[in-house]
Amino acid sequence: MTNNKIHIFDTTLRDGEQVPGCKLNTKEKIELALQLELLGVDVIEAGFPISSPGDFASVQEIAKIVKNATVCGLTRAVQKDIEVAAEALKPAVRPRIHTGIGASDIHIQHKFNTTREDILERAAKATKLAKNFVDDVEFFAEDAGRADIEFLARLVETVIAAGATVVNIPDTTGYCLPHQYGEKIAFLYNNVPNIDKAIISCHCHNDLGLATANSIAGAIAGARQIECTINGIGERAGNTSLEEVVMIIKQHASLGLHTDIRTELLNPISQLVSDTMRVPVQPNKAIVGSNAFAHSSGIHQDGFLKESLTYEIITPEEVGASGSKIVLTARSGRSALAHRFQKIGFDFNRNDIDVLYQQFLQVADTKKEVEDADLQQLANAYTPAEVNA
Ligand code: KIV
Ligand code: ZN
Repeated sequence: MTNNKIHIFDTTLRDGEQVPGCKLNTKEKIELALQLELLGVDVIEAGFPISSPGDFASVQEIAKIVKNATVCGLTRAVQKDIEVAAEALKPAVRPRIHTGIGASDIHIQHKFNTTREDILERAAKATKLAKNFVDDVEFFAEDAGRADIEFLARLVETVIAAGATVVNIPDTTGYCLPHQYGEKIAFLYNNVPNIDKAIISCHCHNDLGLATANSIAGAIAGARQIECTINGIGERAGNTSLEEVVMIIKQHASLGLHTDIRTELLNPISQLVSDTMRVPVQPNKAIVGSNAFAHSSGIHQDGFLKESLTYEIITPEEVGASGSKIVLTARSGRSALAHRFQKIGFDFNRNDIDVLYQQFLQVADTKKEVEDADLQQLANAYTPAEVNA
């Protein structure tokens, strides 16, 4: 079973915080880190210590306060970055340095103006240096999604030989299709001789809306860590959404995978991240959107009221949502209307509902959503003799 655990690496406080306008101060980061630890994430990427004194302080304070999760700091494959991250992580019970460099020819030529051989050397050097400070070193092969696969395999082998305990295969630009990303991970498992010495990690961006699908494809192919953020926030179109991968793994037991996430805390932490970062959650967001458990069409409402399983694959309680909602709109049907009248204290019979339904539709056509107050008015105006409540 241990082999089938997917380690959840949360990067809300690092990649997530890269969203324009979402910068967090140390106090906010500490509060979120404590909630992430409570949620059960395995790794908290707390920041990029060399990037600013504020981020250094945040990583250091989180390192002091978090006791169960691994606390991780990001660096480039640069000596000073690694030394500064090691300093910030000193108080951590489980420190991890996350270092790395570009792996695609696009990055090697345009960002580094160098050769593949030089990248291999720099990668080994950075990993060995980080290893002098901490046992747990994660290496990221940036833009692995577009890297030459044979070179990527050499890079992965090199950093594992240099001591990397985790190797991150980022689809930095969100370019891969799920089967391509899965094949990439499978290729590494089949062609890197020392791959059993490290955990392979998925870090997928959402530029084509495929981050979650790609991460799951990676896990199916053997990766055992997924890097993700609450609400899928992150650079550009965002990162893999934590709540989505966790619930996919939970819902699809046939995958044979599991995480240690307390799923009933998913909605509360989603709200907290949204409030703290001042980024609203889109209403139709899977698992944590306000409409994730709302039913508005007549056909769905009728089925849901007979048996919730007809239109819900997850219960709201399982993910800490406030409950299922029947939303009354012009697309709603008689059973939803009768149900809602009952909820506010009016037990109308079928004939009453037939009459009231026509009046309800007139109101519904003028509004986006019919509220209890509107129903109250309809009920009050209805012939009292026919009202049983
Ligand atoms: O997307 C990416 O490649 C990253 C790395 C820094 C891990 O965020
Ligand atoms: Zn990223």
